Amino acid sequence: MINSIIRGTGMFVPPNLMTNKDLEKIMDTSDEWIQQRTGIKQRYWIPQEGVTGASDLGYEAAKKALDAAGWIAEDLDFIIFATLSPDIMFPGCGCLLAAKLGLNSTPALDIRQQCTGFLYGFATADAYIKTGLAKKVLLVGGEVHSSGLDKSTRGRDVTVIFGDGAAAVCIEGIDTQEPVGLLASVLHADGNYAESLMAELPASRLPKRNPDGVPLDDPRYFPVMDGPSIFKKAVRLLPKVTYEVLEKAGIGLDQIDLIVPHQANKRINQAFGQFLKLADDKVFHNIEKYGNTTAASIPLALHEAIEQGRIGKSGETVLFVALGAGLTWGASVYRFL
Ligand code: UT7
Repeated sequence: MINSIIRGTGMFVPPNLMTNKDLEKIMDTSDEWIQQRTGIKQRYWIPQEGVTGASDLGYEAAKKALDAAGWIAEDLDFIIFATLSPDIMFPGCGCLLAAKLGLNSTPALDIRQQCTGFLYGFATADAYIKTGLAKKVLLVGGEVHSSGLDKSTRGRDVTVIFGDGAAAVCIEGIDTQEPVGLLASVLHADGNYAESLMAELPASRLPKRNPDGVPLDDPRYFPVMDGPSIFKKAVRLLPKVTYEVLEKAGIGLDQIDLIVPHQANKRINQAFGQFLKLADDKVFHNIEKYGNTTAASIPLALHEAIEQGRIGKSGETVLFVALGAGLTWGASVYRFL
């Protein structure tokens, strides 16, 4: 049996620290509101000068993950890059990252599943590994949100949430009879709710992608979200998909050592934990430091959880769970080798 094992993780956030107080200076918001409603205290944004895309952040995270795995870039036979904020419209960040790593023929795939990018990416890596298409896969989640946010008061509900950052995992297929590695994945999508969280422009479905007469500060160029509706969906669907993936993995909740959920809103994850009657320390959070880094959020949290010794010993089991734009939602269960 070929199972997918995490060999190393890495993360990177840009140097520009933005506290809630910094946001108070540019829009009508408050540290108190942001902390009470989301749990976020600060986030990192790319510096305003220079050129930094998601693949640049991903590159820094990837180098660390490769080092942690004891791999060099040439060892990779597949790259998956999850992002909703690619450097350019096309080609994808996976290709750009591969070039930055000095590679010139390694296959690379982009995944645009937003907050569930890591779950979709891990499931994809696992499928490639199990079918023999790849053995050593680099999975990166990376986002530069800050250059695409509405930083006026109009966009405050969305803008205060998002942070820039990247995280990477090296995944290897090993032949084993032990129940280790990625034990189960469950993925869902419902495009009927696409408009609950989206950035519409530029849009290929329009006669002109940047329509005449629509100024570049029009809300259609920025992410817009029906926050309360997404919140309610998350609180309902995250526990549901958790039970679904546990059943698929054939294990109980009591066998999960740590849950590493997407970091969208601390209140969502607290409600999730209460619904499942979990002790507070069973649900990892670092949203207070980084905000919502979308595709980077779960691998970034996993990296920190491992660094802090919260998870990672042989036989320990972690459950990942997320919901976000699409809508997409899902969960996976991973046991350390
Ligand atoms: O990762 C992708 C998936 N996304 C999510 O999971 C996000 C889910 N949703 C949420 O996390 C929450 O809905 C938000 C944090 C986005 C908003 O929190 P909320 O408690 O649902 O607030 P609300 O949108 O219902 O707004 C409540 C009030 C409104 O004022 P009025 O109409 O009551 O006077 C907003 O205008 O809070 C106001 N408000 C703000 N005030 C200060 C909205 N954003 C802000 C802000 N600062 N940044």
